[in-house]
Amino acid sequence: MIFLRAEFFVMTVMIPAASCFFKKGHEPVVLFNRDSMINICVNPICQNGIIMMNKYEILDKDRVLSLIKNGDTVAFSGFSPAGGAKVVPRMLAEHASAVHRQGKPFRIRVLTGASAGDYIDNDLAKTNAIQWRAPYQGGRELRDQINRQEVQYVDMHLSHLAQTVSAGFFGKIDVGVVEATEITPDGRVYLTTSIGASPTWLACADKVIIEINHHHSHRLRELADIFIIPPPPRRSPINVHTPLTRIGWPYAQVDPKKVVGIVENDEPDQVAAFSSEDAMSRKIADHVIRFLLEEKQAGRIPEQFFPFQAGVGNTANAVLAALGNHPEIPPFYMYSEVFQDAMVDLMSDGKLLGASATSLTVVPEKLARITDNMDFFGSRIVLRPQEISNHPGIIRRLGVIAMNTALEMDIYGNVNSSHVFGTHVVNGVGGSGEFTRNSHLSIFMTPSVAKGGKISAVVPMTPHVDNNEHSVQIVVTEQGLADLRGLGPIERAEKIISTCAHPAYRPFLTDYINNSPGGHIPHDLNRCYELHRNLMETGAMLPDLPGV
Ligand code: COA
Repeated sequence: MIFLRAEFFVMTVMIPAASCFFKKGHEPVVLFNRDSMINICVNPICQNGIIMMNKYEILDKDRVLSLIKNGDTVAFSGFSPAGGAKVVPRMLAEHASAVHRQGKPFRIRVLTGASAGDYIDNDLAKTNAIQWRAPYQGGRELRDQINRQEVQYVDMHLSHLAQTVSAGFFGKIDVGVVEATEITPDGRVYLTTSIGASPTWLACADKVIIEINHHHSHRLRELADIFIIPPPPRRSPINVHTPLTRIGWPYAQVDPKKVVGIVENDEPDQVAAFSSEDAMSRKIADHVIRFLLEEKQAGRIPEQFFPFQAGVGNTANAVLAALGNHPEIPPFYMYSEVFQDAMVDLMSDGKLLGASATSLTVVPEKLARITDNMDFFGSRIVLRPQEISNHPGIIRRLGVIAMNTALEMDIYGNVNSSHVFGTHVVNGVGGSGEFTRNSHLSIFMTPSVAKGGKISAVVPMTPHVDNNEHSVQIVVTEQGLADLRGLGPIERAEKIISTCAHPAYRPFLTDYINNSPGGHIPHDLNRCYELHRNLMETGAMLPDLPGV
């Protein structure tokens, strides 16, 4: 029996020696193309019972390590733990330990789409193998090294990454390591659970290693919509007019001559489950929902709603779930960055009509639900490169409602989501900047206090600003919601203090305003960091305050 599929000749053949590759219930099938028919010294790769006769060399550890040198810039696939390279980072971590034991240096410059799984931000970091990192990180170990100035960290807007790299601002990419379900001999790369910046790595890296992941379903490609934006100045508008518009291809492209070979893995993404919804996030969600319904009532949100974006973290996930479960919120779309756990159930229940994202950051059981029901999910989820999922022009065009999380906010609406005391990074700015600045409505959420009340999330001045008063419109804590639109600075301060600050901190904040010298935005530069200084010196922002 002979099938013809595009460039492939597909034949069903019986190869006794290869029968160990066959999975139960699958016909033994061999795929090969003209090149591999000539180049008979090829490696069969088994994918869902299909044996791919491919021309790429399978690399052993020594060969991989010979390709990556001390000081190289290595760009790994992955956006959050989703779709991250796994085998090569592990090899590099072991190599770094061995080399360091010999007293020799081995540290690389690391790029990923956003944060990475434990393989990079913890394991590779633990072996002191990272000297420079961009554009975002999420590991405790790496965070500590960054805060000790042992690793240089470029914390940047995620939609800028592809252009920054393509333009050469970060120098050359020595090696790209990209996880895929398949690479064809003509260089089509079918990515796994994230797109992120992988298409850019494939285009820009000098050498490419593909990690073929056998764990993932080949049907993941049905979600991918990959389009590379050409360099300026002759760019056309990006024709995404709805969250589900598709403009690209299900694969990324690489020049096969750059592909030095493949390594194989069979591992799921290490995605941790969110903690279950708590009373705090439920209260925040209630305020957000009431506000949105009032906006709809006032005619400022259409009946069918605008698409939502939800940031990372437990609060954002819980608010999303609450939105979906509320009877008065109509079924909605999302134009967001990360497709996260809560969205699977919402989509199954018909509450989430469709979603655009750059990664499927869901726990393995939820991922299995998506891939086992691809006929349902395939037309409802689009995974795009991060420069399109987070593109300012599209966010503005679609009228996205952005919901992100703050560590702290100041009384005028400036938000700090990344640096405690303005000095110590937690994760980074991530995509919050591009969504907040360009959304139809920008919302920031946070509990009003942290660490049992020792820290107030409302302060006179944030020592670091990720999103400023010019872009932030709505701030919410479990205490209440402050709509800052159209308010001058003093009005904003009064509103935030009276509705969002914890009652225990309101007298201090009111006193601060009342006793600050004048100006358009009143501040007392001798006192504006008093709460932060108290916290550093005594462990509490207001040391005499009983627990709240
Ligand atoms: N000062 C110091 N520490 C604070 C604090 C403050 N004002 N507010 C919170 N914290 C601490 C918490 O106590 C907690 O500490 P722990 O890990 O020791 O328990 C930690 O900071 C994280 O707080 P938590 O409430 O668990 O946060 P979260 O899971 O809701 O995440 C952010 C909140 C801000 C860290 C997270 O949303 C983030 O990194 N945002 C930036 C990137 C972003 O917005 N991406 C999405 C764009 S699409």
